[in-house]
Amino acid sequence: MHYKLAPSILAADFTRLGEQVRAVDEAGAQYIHLDVMDGAFVPSISFGMPVIKSLREITDKVFDVHMMVEEPGRYVEDMCRCGADLITVHAEACTHLDRVVNQIKEGGMRAGVAVNPATPLSVLDPILGELDMVLIMTVNPGFGGQKFIPYTMEKIRSLRRILTERELAADIQVDGGISSANVREVLEAGANVFVAGSAVFGEDPGARTREFLDIFGEYEA
Ligand code: DX5
Ligand code: ZN
Repeated sequence: MHYKLAPSILAADFTRLGEQVRAVDEAGAQYIHLDVMDGAFVPSISFGMPVIKSLREITDKVFDVHMMVEEPGRYVEDMCRCGADLITVHAEACTHLDRVVNQIKEGGMRAGVAVNPATPLSVLDPILGELDMVLIMTVNPGFGGQKFIPYTMEKIRSLRRILTERELAADIQVDGGISSANVREVLEAGANVFVAGSAVFGEDPGARTREFLDIFGEYEA
């Protein structure tokens, strides 16, 4: 299994955003996690297309756009134009989830679906075979720096079992409260793509990135 780090720029210093993205890029982070919030699906408003488009000019890393937006289908084409490689939408935010997933794939991007902590995995059952990634939220979306919700660990284990049983290759991403202190446990539960905001940005994002990648190396060896 190959493990990937997706630093969330939500926790970056926005006055030095380019510099901080370059730091995690050069340190080897595989994805850049972009949290788009609309003030409706979640309470906060974060950033949107202009920021993503500007960052596209400074890095080739996979742009992993996490849409915390009601009816995100409205923005799939825009995100594609801004350079998104992978778009994750919330099952809770899509009236027509299948349509939105198809829209993403028809745009030539990879498609992920996120589920909030209290949303059962069963909502994904019919569409699981179509997905490139499932995002299991390990906090309630909307803010960085929250505490990992312990019961989500069991959802990660269950999803890993389901994917194995059905011989599906979708990635399992986790997002919220991930740190170098708990990442091993989450990895052992079955996740393979790790979002980390406050644990990466702050003092020396490059060094924090390498710390995560070294942990992954222990399991890849
Ligand atoms: C939460 C966002 C996360 C957030 C993670 O709504 O989706 O990506 O930035 O931040 P940390 O790692 O600090 O919990
Ligand atoms: Zn996120």
